[in-house]
Amino acid sequence: MKTKVLLKNKRMKVGRNDPCPCGSGLKYKKCCLGKKDPIPGDYKDSYYKKYKIRLKEKVDIEGIKAAGRLALATLDLVESEIRPGMTTDEINTLVHDFTVKNGATPAPLNYRGFPKSVCVSINEIICHGIPGERVLEEGDLVNVDVTPILNGYYADTSKTFFLGTPGRDAQKIVRVARESLKKGMSVVRPGNTVGDIGWAIQDYAEGEGCSVVREFVGHGVGFDFHEPPQVPHYGRKGEGIALVPGIVFTIEPMINSGGKELRILDDDWTAVTKDGSLSAQFEQTILVTEDGFESLTPYDL
Ligand code: MF3
Ligand code: CO
Ligand code: CO
Repeated sequence: MKTKVLLKNKRMKVGRNDPCPCGSGLKYKKCCLGKKDPIPGDYKDSYYKKYKIRLKEKVDIEGIKAAGRLALATLDLVESEIRPGMTTDEINTLVHDFTVKNGATPAPLNYRGFPKSVCVSINEIICHGIPGERVLEEGDLVNVDVTPILNGYYADTSKTFFLGTPGRDAQKIVRVARESLKKGMSVVRPGNTVGDIGWAIQDYAEGEGCSVVREFVGHGVGFDFHEPPQVPHYGRKGEGIALVPGIVFTIEPMINSGGKELRILDDDWTAVTKDGSLSAQFEQTILVTEDGFESLTPYDL
């Protein structure tokens, strides 16, 4: 369900007579305005009722952070091992064994029938590449997307790696994908909306002559793999759900060097660019804080 515009732009504060961003339906002045610590308790019920969003408390955030540290260590391991000549299935083995060894479960395995423990998406593959016999080659762009479940908490993060010396087009799409995530993150703060995130990404990526995939979006995460809200990487300023502290979601823009259209292969998972152009992606799990955001899977962009 699409929601009404609560805030027109990111600098604007909620007006006294505006609807309260907690979703109560009351005016802001009659509701959360002036409350010392409106978070997350005051939004908890209304955000669940209205949007089925489960806000995270301190203990949950610590749990997701721990899963996030494991996810990043997994990506570091992959980065140190990945090389031409390797099959994508070997990456799966690395990720699977490392995850299990650290007391966690790889969320992708058997998720809606996904047969492996990690998504490995090469070149024109946008996302959901299934590890198998494909051999990595010099010059490939390889996105590795990991989601460990540790003590019941999920953290979801991915990076795109270069193999060997990338061509100019490969360098560009990776730069734009990386910067797209950064742009999306930069507008995460209470009062801004999900649409502000999408707009920031779309405006930047299309300005660079690239396109933004529509069919796959960021998502709430933490208690489950995919929770509300959906976080499109395109959109309009001020539209969609207002961000409040305690929301945890991914931002994971898939950026194509050609058109935005995609095709799903016969395996029912692998999404590839329709025109065969390159695609790249970076993903982090983001917490909305009282004055901005914190990445729960932080790495430099
Ligand atoms: N990790 C992906 C995401 O970012 C989801 C993969 S679903 C799977 O949302 F089944 F393919 F693993
Ligand atoms: Co995700
Ligand atoms: Co992911």
